[in-house]
Amino acid sequence: MVRPAGSITRGTTAHNRLRRADRWIAAVHGPMLRAASRPLVVDLGYGASHVTTLELFTRLRRVVPGVEVVGIEIDPERVALAKPYEREGLSFALGGFELPVARPPALVRAFNVLRQYGEAEAWHWWDVLRGGLAPGGALVEGTCSETGHRAVWVGLSPGGPRTITFSARFDAFERPSDLADRLPKTLIHRNVPGERIHAFLRDFDHAWAVTAPYGAHGLRQRWLASVSALSGSWPVFRHPPLGGVARWRLGEITLPWAAVH
Ligand SMILES: C[S@@+](CC[C@H](N)C(=O)[O-])C[C@H]1O[C@@H](n2cnc3c(N)ncnc32)[C@H](O)[C@@H]1O
Repeated sequence: MVRPAGSITRGTTAHNRLRRADRWIAAVHGPMLRAASRPLVVDLGYGASHVTTLELFTRLRRVVPGVEVVGIEIDPERVALAKPYEREGLSFALGGFELPVARPPALVRAFNVLRQYGEAEAWHWWDVLRGGLAPGGALVEGTCSETGHRAVWVGLSPGGPRTITFSARFDAFERPSDLADRLPKTLIHRNVPGERIHAFLRDFDHAWAVTAPYGAHGLRQRWLASVSALSGSWPVFRHPPLGGVARWRLGEITLPWAAVH
């Protein structure tokens, strides 16, 4: 067997940690997965427990009944632990960035994996992973807090990065820029004055500050008002599936990648 590409890293994971990203994947990529003839989804680097892969499977099966999900881990012990949880449509395999699956996946979710690599490696593995996608497929690569209450992810097509999404529980931050600690590896070093990601987070904080009075009606209303204000000067997606009130009210905001990089 070819040695899996990558290295074993900490396996921290938790029940429901990736719920925010899963819900976005189902809404944004559900139609693409439903249209695929045998949709295959890979969860790369599922960690010390199979739980987030099982949750992805359960959530996707609701909207894409025929979807197949394969959890891939580079640590053989973690694969052995997950194997007993296999079922029709859900399996676990040993591997790395080379993605040892029978056909190109329509979607790859990789969460809290690349943050443990260097920045140059992260760019390289993005290229490798998107190069392995089925035509029209998607890579969703992100980072979140231990509980998943603060998350940032990038959506990539086979052609390159397309979107960035910030998602948070309303009581999990004081200012939107608190999400900076979850930026992807490819962006985290750019969060300095003069860079677009820094300007975006600064403007988001400003919008959050000036919409403080909306907090009287709850933090959700304040978030909606901030995102509306921000969309005057930033190309925030305003229409489904990537934007609009139905998404913003979840504590989410998506922009084109090009706006922040
Ligand atoms: C922090 S855990 C994340 C678990 C889960 N995805 C989550 O977000 O809760 C990262 C896992 O990725 C695995 N990993 C790291 N590099 C990998 C690679 N190239 N291929 C497959 N798994 C990898 C590590 O062994 C570790 O178990």
